[in-house]
Amino acid sequence: MNEIMTEIKITKVKESRVNQVDLENVTMGFNFTDHMFICNYNNGEWHNPRIEPLALIPTHPAAMALHYGQAIFEGMKATLGKDGTPLLFRPLENAKRMNFSADRMGMPLFPEDLFVEALKQFTAIEKNWIPTKKGSALYLRPFIYADEPFIGMRAATSFKFMIIASPAGPFFSRKIKLYAEKKYVRAVNGGTGEAKAAGNYAAAIRPTEYAKAKGYDQVLWLDAHDFEYIQEVGTMNIFFKIDGKFITPSLTGSILSGITRMSVIDLLRSKGFEVIERTIKISEIIEASQNRTLEEAFGTGTAVGIAMIEEIGNNDLSIKFPEENPVSVMVNDTLNAIKVQDIKDEFGWIVEAK
Ligand code: COI
Repeated sequence: MNEIMTEIKITKVKESRVNQVDLENVTMGFNFTDHMFICNYNNGEWHNPRIEPLALIPTHPAAMALHYGQAIFEGMKATLGKDGTPLLFRPLENAKRMNFSADRMGMPLFPEDLFVEALKQFTAIEKNWIPTKKGSALYLRPFIYADEPFIGMRAATSFKFMIIASPAGPFFSRKIKLYAEKKYVRAVNGGTGEAKAAGNYAAAIRPTEYAKAKGYDQVLWLDAHDFEYIQEVGTMNIFFKIDGKFITPSLTGSILSGITRMSVIDLLRSKGFEVIERTIKISEIIEASQNRTLEEAFGTGTAVGIAMIEEIGNNDLSIKFPEENPVSVMVNDTLNAIKVQDIKDEFGWIVEAK
């Protein structure tokens, strides 16, 4: 990283709005912190990294992100450690994934060291916005979008990388129901499903509305060819415990590589559980349910954390999970405890933001 890039220009608000928000009873996505991080890309390089008061960003109506969807994002959470230091969870993994997404979407890569440094400085400035209630955190949203005004099909030449943040309470406070979708698909091999591209989420909105109208919380996506292999859930990866072993769909090219997913695999293995990454058919889950070897299931995601699953269904299917899910609870509690330094981070996941 060159010198100009390491220097982040900081302009702070005169007065914080944090006292206007009840941080202990907050829902993610509605309130935004005082500042934003911005960095511009043009003439083939990133420049002018800065933290400024949160404000509207002037956008040309021909900005290419609005028309062709060159837009990607990340999600991560900041917590407070025992001595009040703001903590980030595996920020380098987000930096790497953002660049994987950028590459797939024909966008410029963002320097990983600047990504982490920007997050540290931004989070340190927004420290007072980090909620402390169990399961709460400050949700950080890094994103890149094409801001070049142009009509025509090619990669943009001008982009913005930004970070904004929103205080977040626990996402689900109960077990959830998933709708096994057999009409719409999220992704195909060779498509953009592995990237955290805005368009993947746009394509999921209508099917998610349909699933919600039927009483489900999120969609369980199946493969685009046979509607048989389990892929991922609306905003999560998925784990099943069958006959003592954990199984999660392998990353076959259309599934997002979740950072919570990779952390849960390591955590479970460190506790002595066998975790198998492989393709898994929904018929296997039905069979395991029938022969009573289906023990637990949960979704993993940054926003959601660990979401225990109660049921998977659709019009002609209903798989109910046992009421008790002790390992899922352990995973949730352990991750939360690591994030606030209640237990030691043996994995080296936590990075101090100071
Ligand atoms: C996250 O878990 O960080 C996500 O990106 C999901 C988001 C759509 C709420």
